[in-house]
Amino acid sequence: MTLPTAALHDAAERFGTPLYVYAAAELDAALARVRSAFGPARVYYAMKANPNLTLLRRLNAAGVGFECVSPGELARAEEVGASGPQILVNGPAKSAAEYAAGARLGATFIVDREEEVALLPPASRALVRVNPALEVSTHDHLATGAAGSKFGVTLQQAPRVLEALRAAGHTALGLHVHIGSAIRDAHDFTAAFGRLTELREQTGPLAVLDAGGGWGLDADLHGIAREARAAASAFGAELWVEPGRYLVARAGTLLTRVVGTKRTGRNFCLVDAGMTELLRPMLYGAVHPVTPLWDGGEVGTWDIAGPACESGDLLARDISMPQPTRGALVAIGEAGAYGAAMSSNYLTRSRPAEALYEPGTGDGQDWTLIRRRETPQDVWAAEI
Ligand code: LLP
Repeated sequence: MTLPTAALHDAAERFGTPLYVYAAAELDAALARVRSAFGPARVYYAMKANPNLTLLRRLNAAGVGFECVSPGELARAEEVGASGPQILVNGPAKSAAEYAAGARLGATFIVDREEEVALLPPASRALVRVNPALEVSTHDHLATGAAGSKFGVTLQQAPRVLEALRAAGHTALGLHVHIGSAIRDAHDFTAAFGRLTELREQTGPLAVLDAGGGWGLDADLHGIAREARAAASAFGAELWVEPGRYLVARAGTLLTRVVGTKRTGRNFCLVDAGMTELLRPMLYGAVHPVTPLWDGGEVGTWDIAGPACESGDLLARDISMPQPTRGALVAIGEAGAYGAAMSSNYLTRSRPAEALYEPGTGDGQDWTLIRRRETPQDVWAAEI
């Protein structure tokens, strides 16, 4: 747990639940670990992991750029003052609005298919995303570097696309690879970088190799960095990386209150957060650490279930913990990435508030509200 228990109780009291909380110290520590492993590599935060403006401003101030995959993400990058060289425009099906915004901001485009060469704004700077056609050790939904996935050009096509970019008057900066997210086996990176390096003979030297993100929270960053650096230097290229989860996941906790309990075929601890606040357990079978913030009571085995009228609305299964009581707090850990970011208004539920814990800053309080809880009126504001 990255936050003191007393501070968690205080935050739940002040801001209500469900609530996302983030430890500033862990945000900084994660970036420091990345910098220590990857040295001078340029870091582009994949803001899809958590696009809260306060977090983006913090990263921008630390010299981190942004990988953006929608007009909205580009607008966020602009809003926090990121400049052109700090912005990557990525995505398998970019809209005309994204090409236009990228050109206006002076961003670098990541080309995902050959057809895009003709769609790019004139004289663009571009990387070519390569799909190394590998089996990747993660959930199917999170694997992007498999032969059957929709991402990137094939190894065979890559040299031709670089050439086509140059012929069309663009700057072909180099290659990009991102094989998936929450990758369990570091050998997957070794294999992917190895396949890219084999292209060196055909491509010649390149200015940039972008090694993507995808690092699991327990990943050996130094090992991955070593392999990525070797691949970059094979091309004489500068190394860029795009971590999302790694920079924010551990800093974040979802705080939820016990609503009650029931025993059917299983023991359910019902809480005030569920699939609308944290979709990952339901969507990917993701396992997040669960910490009950109470003591005493007989220990049993519980499933943590949310308020949605869907039987898949579970945050965790088979948690061993003392008897829950109504009003007690449960902390769901490693929730800083793809937690708040993927929360939804399904069931006209208001997306939760978010708060940053940074003792000794701001107004003398340890907590700063960085997103207020939505109201039902916020949820239907765009409706006629
Ligand atoms: N670069 C590219 C091109 C990406 O597509 C992604 C993530 C990243 C970087 C950052 O990957 P990370 O370091 O966060 O693994 N919603 C899923 C994760 C989807 C990731 C999509 N792309 C989840 O909750 O696990």
